[in-house]
Amino acid sequence: MNKLNDYIYSVGAIDWERRLFDELIPLPDGTSYNSYLIQGSEKTALIDTVDPTKKSKLLRNLSELEVKRIDYVIANHAEQDHSGAIPRVLEAYPMAKVITNPKCKAMLIDLLHIAPDKFIEVQDVEMLSLGNKTLKFIYTPWVHWPETMVTFLEEERILFSCDFFGSHFATSDLFVTDWEKLMPSNKRYYAEIMMPFRGIIANNIKKVEALGVKMIAPSHGPVFDHPECIIDAYKEWVSDKVKNEVIVPYVSMHGSTKEMVDHLIAALINRGIKVKPFDLSGVDIGELAMALVDAATVVIGSPTVLAGAHPLALYAAALANALRPKTRFVSIVGSYGWGGKMVEQLAGMITNLKVEVLEPVIIKGLPKREELVKLDALADQILKKHKEAGLL
Ligand code: FEO
Repeated sequence: MNKLNDYIYSVGAIDWERRLFDELIPLPDGTSYNSYLIQGSEKTALIDTVDPTKKSKLLRNLSELEVKRIDYVIANHAEQDHSGAIPRVLEAYPMAKVITNPKCKAMLIDLLHIAPDKFIEVQDVEMLSLGNKTLKFIYTPWVHWPETMVTFLEEERILFSCDFFGSHFATSDLFVTDWEKLMPSNKRYYAEIMMPFRGIIANNIKKVEALGVKMIAPSHGPVFDHPECIIDAYKEWVSDKVKNEVIVPYVSMHGSTKEMVDHLIAALINRGIKVKPFDLSGVDIGELAMALVDAATVVIGSPTVLAGAHPLALYAAALANALRPKTRFVSIVGSYGWGGKMVEQLAGMITNLKVEVLEPVIIKGLPKREELVKLDALADQILKKHKEAGLL
């Protein structure tokens, strides 16, 4: 059994095979549902549980440790990948009480039908003694649900952060061994579920920094025994800083839009701007979300289908609108056959973004050589905006 120290055990489950989360988010590296058992001199606490598909593994781990009694099950977050095994734990350990905040309690009653009398509510910064160890509960809303909180072990300065600072990364390593290798998984995770709340997350990071944490034990991915790396990365991601980069999510049916996209990409590269194209017909949306974290500009490329934008382009716009990246500039390029409302449709789908829209380039049919200069003009405009923003 993996141990963080003499009295903290990692008793969760690694999900090597899982390839999709929320039936939406690709998991190229699997994931883990970390659950931590803390044995105090008087009381024993279990911090978060596991996805319901792995509840047998959690119970087996507790059995192997010969855990006879659990006094408290700490629920940092109501989402089922952490809470889904609570009912099974309460069956196996009927004396246990679920410790959580009032919002999370209400959600757990709704989502899992846990009886109200099984709960003990805690307020923000409330403490709970396990005898020789003390837990402190700190509300950290919107990482990434409204009820999320973290648990801090005072004596060892260990933060049990649930989704906050986590990553979908299955590994047999208990601790982070190679931050450079792990970082993209953390960034992807941030992009997929945290980014829409970056303002409030910045406040939560301040709360964490004020604690002087020595270790961060999230409920997905490995444990940070040097937490500065992930805290610094989060500070960078939530900041207002953007990079001299253009993301080009595009789809093309018969090659006309692709020709425009290729021309624009070459024009941007010639102007010293980094470009990341994403062919939406086979995109990993996690990669696209990650690219959106710090790119200054997004240019969507789409043909018209049934007088509107291609549904995959609409999907990309809806995704960006939901993720609310700090993108500063947006434009649209594409080809049409007999008119349509593609630009209005796409622009109407990104109303959450605080962006300046640069003049779209829409061309009828296969672009002619003299029409492609409009894309050079768009590249010039992007260069000008990036320079004004001090990005190059
Ligand atoms: Fe890992 Fe929001 O659950």
